[in-house]
Amino acid sequence: MKAAVIEKFGDFDTLQIKELETPSPKAGYVLVKILASGVNLLDHYIRKGEIVSELPFPHILGADAAGEIAQLGEGVNGFNEGERVIIVPGFPGDESHLDIRPTATAPSFGLPGLHIPGTYVQYMEVPAYAIVKDNTGLTVEESATLGVPLATGVHAVKGVGEDKAGDKVLIQNGASGSGSIQIQIAKALGAEVATTVRSDEKAAYAKSLGADLVINTTNEDLVVKVQEWTGGTGADVTIDNLGGDVLAQSINATKATGIIVAFGFTAGPEVKFDIRSLFFGLKQLRGSMASDVEHLNWGLEQVAAGKIKPTLDGTFLLSEAGDVHKLLAEGKVKGSHVLLPWA
Ligand SMILES: NC(=O)c1ccc[n+]([C@@H]2O[C@H](COP(=O)([O-])OP(=O)(O)OC[C@H]3O[C@@H](n4cnc5c(N)ncnc54)[C@H](OP(=O)(O)O)[C@@H]3O)[C@@H](O)[C@H]2O)c1
Repeated sequence: MKAAVIEKFGDFDTLQIKELETPSPKAGYVLVKILASGVNLLDHYIRKGEIVSELPFPHILGADAAGEIAQLGEGVNGFNEGERVIIVPGFPGDESHLDIRPTATAPSFGLPGLHIPGTYVQYMEVPAYAIVKDNTGLTVEESATLGVPLATGVHAVKGVGEDKAGDKVLIQNGASGSGSIQIQIAKALGAEVATTVRSDEKAAYAKSLGADLVINTTNEDLVVKVQEWTGGTGADVTIDNLGGDVLAQSINATKATGIIVAFGFTAGPEVKFDIRSLFFGLKQLRGSMASDVEHLNWGLEQVAAGKIKPTLDGTFLLSEAGDVHKLLAEGKVKGSHVLLPWA
């Protein structure tokens, strides 16, 4: 089978196609024929060596995928060959850790493409508990965009951020793969949403996703705009997908006693802020990482109900994985992108 692998950390061209042996599923496992693999900015950071300093090379990247069951391992019940499924974006390797919550704290937790071989591949062998049935009614390309953005978004917005109906929520970087889904999650929960972008084109896109207020931070002051929008109090919840020098603004745009969820570091991994801006207002800065299968299932129910729509922006060949990383890294895209391993 074909896989897009890296043999070392490096630039976009380190991603190369390699022929690997097709696995055959162990007892309790299934072999999934991957029909579309979702690409996340995280994959780019892993490829560069910015997430972990060692990997067993050759390493297959990719955390997201949708496909169909090619083969059932011994003892697997409840699934049929040919059935459409989505790979759970992160799960324990040891079945005895299945009930640990948050799942990412399980000692055997593995994210495909990081801790275990990933989804940029034609076939993937996973435990049967690491797939969910795809009842969304979407195309397989659309389904492949959902895993990480949807499940981690539900974790961050609904779980860690405790966003609820009537809240005013600020979502930083609303046109990104994660932000574009988080806007819709917050709306599905009944919240009002403000979001940030850096171009008029992305502002129109964020608006089309249901954002009530779109702030273009190239010519508008984020904190002033959010204060105006909330009558001077600040957002109830802020999802900070950016980090870097943006986190200080996220704190200042959040109301006293509000929650700021640190979710990403697109603007940089190191942050600086006035500590008084946090504790004088009794604000809470919380981290959110990965997701539980319950977050994925809740999100997929919203998708099936038409409340959250996939944000597929482009499809590419598996051999173009490096080009997609480049597009993402250069910020030339909005929404999510997939690779087609069989095209
Ligand atoms: N915590 C978790 O569980 C989790 C899960 C998934 C992803 N993440 C993190 O969430 C973040 C977003 O991921 P993603 O896949 O949604 O990203 P993405 O779609 O690739 O978004 C990248 C976009 O960010 C925009 N951006 C806005 N402000 C920026 C700035 N100051 N510097 C650089 N780019 C800026 C760029 O567009 P413009 O230039 O047009 O603004 C760029 O297109 C990443 O840091 C990722 O690691 C966390």
